[in-house]
Amino acid sequence: MDKTINKWKNKYGIAFLKDIGVKDGNKVLDCCCGEGNFSIPAAKVVGKNGLVYAFEMNEQKLKALISEYNSEDIKNIKIIQQEFKKNLPLPDCSMDIILLYDIFLYFSLDSIKLKNLLDEVYRISKDSAIVSVYPEHVDKKILKQKMEDSCFKMEREFLKTLIHDNKFKKGNIINFKKVLN
Ligand SMILES: C[S@@+](CC[C@H](N)C(=O)[O-])C[C@H]1O[C@@H](n2cnc3c(N)ncnc32)[C@H](O)[C@@H]1O
Repeated sequence: MDKTINKWKNKYGIAFLKDIGVKDGNKVLDCCCGEGNFSIPAAKVVGKNGLVYAFEMNEQKLKALISEYNSEDIKNIKIIQQEFKKNLPLPDCSMDIILLYDIFLYFSLDSIKLKNLLDEVYRISKDSAIVSVYPEHVDKKILKQKMEDSCFKMEREFLKTLIHDNKFKKGNIINFKKVLN
C-alpha cells in the first residue's frame, strides 16, 4: 500500500475520525465511500461493537476496499454496492455518524438528487447523530444553506489535515446535527 495511505488508515485517519466525533460502538455510514479512505480507519475506531456501512456505486473503487478488508481481517464493514437514486437501504434513526465527504461533484447543490440524499440522511440518523461534511468543490455558504433547508443545523467547523485524492491536504470539515421536529 502507498505510504501516505498506510499512514492515514493506521494513524492519522483514526485520530481525525475521533476528533470529528466517531466513537467505539458507533454505527457509521460512509456515504459514497470511494476506495474507503475513511471507512477503514472508521472501522478501527468503532471496533467490534460498531459497524461501518460503506455505500458506493463504483465496483472498481470497491475492489480496493474489499481487498484491504480481506487482508486486514476487518470484519465490521458492511459494503453496500448501490447507486443512490432516492433511497438508502438503512432503517430509520439507526446511524450515529454519517460522512458526506467530497461527494458534491456528483450531488450538485441545486440538484434534487442532493435534496433526496439529505432527506434520507435525516431519516436514517439518530436524533443525536453527527452528519459530517467535507465540502470539497463547492461553495460552503450555499452548502450550509442547503443543509439548513433539509433540517440540519451547523454545530462545529474544523480546519483539518485529511486525505484527498490519496494526498494529505488541509480541508474544512463541518459537523451538523438534526433539527428535531
Ligand atoms: C470523489 S469520491 C469521494 C470518495 C470518499 N468519500 C472520499 O472522500 O475519499 C466520490 C464517490 O462518490 C461515488 N458516487 C457518486 N454518485 C454516487 C451515487 N449516486 N451512488 C453511490 N455512489 C456514488 C463515486 O463513485 C465516487 O467514488
